[in-house]
Amino acid sequence: MRILGIESSCDETAAAIVEDGDTLLSNVVRTQIDIHKVYGGVVPEVAARSHIEVVNAVIDQALTDARLTWKDIDGIAVTYAPGLLGSLLIGTLSARTIALQKNIPLYPIHHVEAHVYANFITKQAEHLSLSLPKEQPKFPMLALIASGGHSQLVLFKDHGDYTLLGQTQDDAVGEAFDKVAKILGLPYPGGPSIAEAATKGDPKAYQLPKAKLQGAYDFSFSGLKTAVLRAVQHEVGVDTSFPSFELSARLNDVQRANFAASFQHTAIETLVDKAEKAFHDYSPASVVIAGGVAANQELRTQLQERLPLPIEYAPMQLCTDNGAMIATLGCFYAERMQPISPLSLEVQPSLSMTQTAWHTS
Ligand code: KG4
Ligand code: ZN
Repeated sequence: MRILGIESSCDETAAAIVEDGDTLLSNVVRTQIDIHKVYGGVVPEVAARSHIEVVNAVIDQALTDARLTWKDIDGIAVTYAPGLLGSLLIGTLSARTIALQKNIPLYPIHHVEAHVYANFITKQAEHLSLSLPKEQPKFPMLALIASGGHSQLVLFKDHGDYTLLGQTQDDAVGEAFDKVAKILGLPYPGGPSIAEAATKGDPKAYQLPKAKLQGAYDFSFSGLKTAVLRAVQHEVGVDTSFPSFELSARLNDVQRANFAASFQHTAIETLVDKAEKAFHDYSPASVVIAGGVAANQELRTQLQERLPLPIEYAPMQLCTDNGAMIATLGCFYAERMQPISPLSLEVQPSLSMTQTAWHTS
């Protein structure tokens, strides 16, 4: 079975084709990072307009790269939740139109659930050269999902059968990377730029707190972000009334690198502490990480040091938003679920992954 995946929930317009839930035939990602960089974050209206401009070309490219035509496609999987309303509308409208025109079954995919499925891609067409895991993860599977919008620990018993163990009570971890980068004067998106600056810094230079929460597997990152802000104010000798957007100009490169390294170390250790606890409590057969922050090398290193099983990581390109993860989940979904009518598919900007159709059915 060959599924075309379409993703447009935030600032990447992406399409990919996956065969049988494990083989990537093409993977096209058009990012809007350069457009949003000047604003220091994603501007929803601008994102939606950019998706409209490129979505058809991105889908055509996915078919061309895979050397396929529409009659080779058995289903279309599209992100319908969660994400920016305007952005979701463009991807779903394209998917619905094609499904209707070409009479191809259409499958609604939850973006956060799909991030986990980047880990199921183990084979690829010759023209792609990603460094892929050798085997698909086994169930029960513990997934640490860490992205710009989500931070959660999920225990998968099977495809579509999972329990949310815990999640962030405030900011997502990627959001904290992005906000701390702003404080430090590092470019958007904050994750990669903090990781880069951190390579030159000392992770023990500043003592930053880890949040203590009621839920054993819950997270909180808003206090950590504020702790960085206070520490920067203290370091440059100003009080809380000083405008935060002017703070970074007072930091020198050594201080900036030390703050980046100290923040990254604490944020990542917070994720790994909870993942380690869940691992010991539930003894999963495999552990995967997913979402944009899964591209973080420090997370990969710390997790492997703390967990007693070998972890295979998806390539960085499949951790941040892409169509391949949508198509892969689409393959498993299509095996078990009926397609949705192109006329009735509606976007759900803030739907939790515990409320997806196949989970509750
Ligand atoms: O999954 P994703 O591409 O989009 C969402 O669904 O949110 O995640 C984007 C987030 C951003 O907050 C970005 O700063 C973060 O992932 N990110 C990273 C790294 N690469 C991207 N965070 C830490 N280290 C990285 N190397
Ligand atoms: Zn994402």
